[in-house]
Amino acid sequence: MPLTWKPEFVLNQPQVDATHREFVDLVACLDESQGEMPPAALVDRFKRLIAHTIDHFGQEDRWMTITGFSPDNCHARQHKMVLDVMHEVVRLAEVEGHLDPLRRIVLELEEWFPQHADMMDAALVFHMSEVGFDPARPDAFKPKNAEDADAIKSCDGSSCG
Ligand SMILES: [Fe+2]
Ligand SMILES: [Fe+2]
Repeated sequence: MPLTWKPEFVLNQPQVDATHREFVDLVACLDESQGEMPPAALVDRFKRLIAHTIDHFGQEDRWMTITGFSPDNCHARQHKMVLDVMHEVVRLAEVEGHLDPLRRIVLELEEWFPQHADMMDAALVFHMSEVGFDPARPDAFKPKNAEDADAIKSCDGSSCG
């Protein structure tokens, strides 16, 4: 079943929701449940997803930095890990001619996204609203107090488990 947009994905942050809708659409374009697509088309579409994901994760990473997360917090680390794997499966497809890892990661992204959005992205949205950060007006953000400026190491202020 292709990943499709569901009401429970809505986090009520317009930029996050718009980006997540695009992500879901791009992943759905890679679904081969109705039949395999030509390898070149599959890799091309996957590269489009990577380009979008670089912006998607970069945007969230930037907001984390602005609002006091340390650069090595677990949310940003997970972004990096996912992107590293996405780049690696393209390398395997293009350089070594192995498409199976790319096909597998598409299925894994369909499983991964709802959990990531529900836990880490939802926690980020909550945190941004708590500290008064509006992504549409990043320059207007002033940390309310010294605590907000302290680096947050975990994704949501608690242990990553
Ligand atoms: Fe996200
Ligand atoms: Fe995220």
